[in-house]
Amino acid sequence: MARERAVLVGAGGISNAWFGPLANEKVDVVGVVDIRKENAQAKIEQWKLTCLPTTDLKATLKATRPDFVVDCTIPEAHCEVTCTALKAGCHVIGEKPMASSMGEARKMVKTAEACRKMYMVSQSRRWEGKHDLVKRMVTGRKLGELTTANCDFYIGAHFGGFRDEMPSPLILDMAIHHFDLARFMTGKDPVAVYAKEFNPKGSWYKGDVAASAIFEMTDGVIFTYRGSWCAEGLHTSWNGDWRFIGDKGTLVYDHDQTPKGQIVVNKEGFFRQIKDMEMPAERVKFGGMHGALREMLAFLRKGTKPQSECHDNIKSLAMVFAVIESSRKGKRIPIVW
Ligand SMILES: NC(=O)c1ccc[n+]([C@@H]2O[C@H](COP(=O)([O-])OP(=O)(O)OC[C@H]3O[C@@H](n4cnc5c(N)ncnc54)[C@H](O)[C@@H]3O)[C@@H](O)[C@H]2O)c1
Repeated sequence: MARERAVLVGAGGISNAWFGPLANEKVDVVGVVDIRKENAQAKIEQWKLTCLPTTDLKATLKATRPDFVVDCTIPEAHCEVTCTALKAGCHVIGEKPMASSMGEARKMVKTAEACRKMYMVSQSRRWEGKHDLVKRMVTGRKLGELTTANCDFYIGAHFGGFRDEMPSPLILDMAIHHFDLARFMTGKDPVAVYAKEFNPKGSWYKGDVAASAIFEMTDGVIFTYRGSWCAEGLHTSWNGDWRFIGDKGTLVYDHDQTPKGQIVVNKEGFFRQIKDMEMPAERVKFGGMHGALREMLAFLRKGTKPQSECHDNIKSLAMVFAVIESSRKGKRIPIVW
């Protein structure tokens, strides 16, 4: 079988997480494009590629005719880059977040439909053994009927740079991971949210870097998110610390440790008798971007729909913008996409 051909756009920090898996899967990287040619050149040298660096995406796609494009540009450029690639007849796998507004995201979905091309977003944290394990336990009804999901994320992160200046650094740049994980792990979609963003005293950020949000999810599940990037001491995991409650028991996943669960075994007494749940083995073989890439390759080879294709992923993005709107307006916001 002929090797798949790809063009990578946006040769910045995160592109390093893509060149390895592309090589591993024997994808032919036929172009590296960046508005700063020196960035593309540096990656070509670092990863010992044979293609030339370019700054013109349209011309590069015309000349190289790749099967798909990997969009690793900044969020503000995703819409333009992805739509250009789709219109040139390429499928696209793009970095999160899908876009920097819901308007742009809807335009991207419509363009994928009109061009009859696949556009999927890489939400890298979906391809992680423990996350898959939580998903199997929760959606496999091991806790009975799910009622509640909580996620806490508390890290004191001193980035410097653009995040210190953004209006909603936590929600826009980080919480998209947690919101997408909430959908992934529960199998539920967002319905509405009431949220408050704030900037704690002593914060080294200009914008609101902390938030509390109560989401109504499908089937009556309540997902509560509390987070801050301005919280010194006793950090949670970057994946967040999670609790899931069903009508038969509870599962906790924190500090990236193997999840623990307890379920009720009889229906008597003030405290019911409980037992520890058995956890099956992890089974994700290809993590992070590699897992996402393999879903694009499975689509190209067998037509299998990737789990984070754009019609699905836009729901996670809608949670982000609904939190910001709810906080600004001080009211419950229905979540639409
Ligand atoms: N999955 C993850 O865990 C994860 C982690 C970090 C970053 N990301 C995402 O990856 C994306 C890139 O982040 P980064 O940290 O690599 O940023 P970066 O600033 O290091 O790199 C972005 C690159 O894109 C280039 N670029 C910008 N606009 C362009 C355009 N219109 N056409 C071509 N090139 C363009 C820039 O010159 C730069 O080289 C963001 O969407 C970010 O949220 C994801």
